[in-house]
Amino acid sequence: MDRIRIRGGKPLSGSVPISGAKNAALPLMAAGLLADGPLVLTNAPDLADIATMTQLLRHHGLLVEHDKAARTLSISGNAKELEAPYDIVRKMRASVLVLGPLLARYGRARVSLPGGCAIGTRPVDLHIKGLEQLGAEIEITSGYIEARAPGGKLRGARIIFPTVSVGATENLLMAACLAEGETELVNAAREPEIGDLAMCLMRMGARIEGIGTDRLRIEGGATLLAATHPIVPDRIEAGTYACAAAITGGQLHLEGARLEHLGSVARVLRDAGVDVAETHTGLTVTRRNGLRGADVMTEPFPGFATDMQAQYMALMTVAEGASMITETIFENRFMHVPELMRMGARINFHGSSAIVRGVPRLSGAPVMATDLRASVSLVLAGLAAEGETIVNRVYHLDRGYESVEAKLAAVGADIERLPG
Ligand code: UD1
Repeated sequence: MDRIRIRGGKPLSGSVPISGAKNAALPLMAAGLLADGPLVLTNAPDLADIATMTQLLRHHGLLVEHDKAARTLSISGNAKELEAPYDIVRKMRASVLVLGPLLARYGRARVSLPGGCAIGTRPVDLHIKGLEQLGAEIEITSGYIEARAPGGKLRGARIIFPTVSVGATENLLMAACLAEGETELVNAAREPEIGDLAMCLMRMGARIEGIGTDRLRIEGGATLLAATHPIVPDRIEAGTYACAAAITGGQLHLEGARLEHLGSVARVLRDAGVDVAETHTGLTVTRRNGLRGADVMTEPFPGFATDMQAQYMALMTVAEGASMITETIFENRFMHVPELMRMGARINFHGSSAIVRGVPRLSGAPVMATDLRASVSLVLAGLAAEGETIVNRVYHLDRGYESVEAKLAAVGADIERLPG
């Protein structure tokens, strides 16, 4: 298993290209099931999760070509196999995003239940209840979601989500495009990745109103056609590199990053003493003086993203004063805490809140990554720490960060991958 070695203490400076967003690319790829295609996605990142979704779509019988040099994904053809097997779904929860498109287009689908994951139980009940409201008959048998649309067609409906779910909003949005009649999604998630999916569906011929709001109206029954769509830049990758600039006391230009997509992350970074400025081509993030502790609570967009919580905590470990970090989206998302403490961080946590008391400096240590964002928080801590940090289990990073060590080395980090 590969590891990453970092010798910390170097302020970063230069420009980092921000890749297409993983969390936008995955639902966009699933949307490829809705049309004969081809659906061509540009600005596609090269990540392990993209390879998993490619494997799943190919398993369904689609033709998926990933031209890594041109950064394009081309998806075409019809599904011949309507089952998403456990062996693929267990690798990546976002596989459940094929459920809505398969059911809406082919009238049937059998998708393995994803099960829990390191950060929490993560049920899919909102996806299932929403599809039932569109007329689907669903049973859970032998660990699989067995879904059928009577008469082969879903019917539009008004769906009020009891809690905000990114994945359920995406699944229902895609299904509603092919359902008969109008669907309204109330209390829909507003993450930029959902706006990106809606824009792509519109390019394919869907009729959607309310993009960017928590109320999406979809006029169903459209036939979706070939389209080309650029994947939105990854706001979580951008936020992560913003923390890299801040934690090392450097300056980075984040090429392609968009301020409006950072939501409250930009405001919180400014509260902590970090400059975040918009330019014609992206964002420039600079830390000139010391960092101050600033409290955050994770919330659905535009609130502070749970996917930025671990990185922000790494930053707060070296800030002046204390900060309280409250996680409200996932129940078990503090697994980076003991690892950060091994590097000298002072953190107490109880339940869903952690108090971080800043220390003057961290010290390098061997640490272990447990999930995607936790692992990158350890890389950030390593960049600021004195001495050498070895991050184990780098495969978590490869799921969501494209060429992380190359991008960091290009802006002055002493970092290398140790093949294992
Ligand atoms: C997506 C992101 C993930 C991010 C998360 C929250 C992708 C591929 N992944 O995950 O990186 O951390 O949004 O911003 O885009 N829930 C239920 N029932 C459901 C669905 C969700 O109770 O049917 C709960 C979850 O357990 C969680 C909360 O709702 O507590 C939010 O989850 P959700 O927004 O659905 O996250 P994902 O779409 O899985």
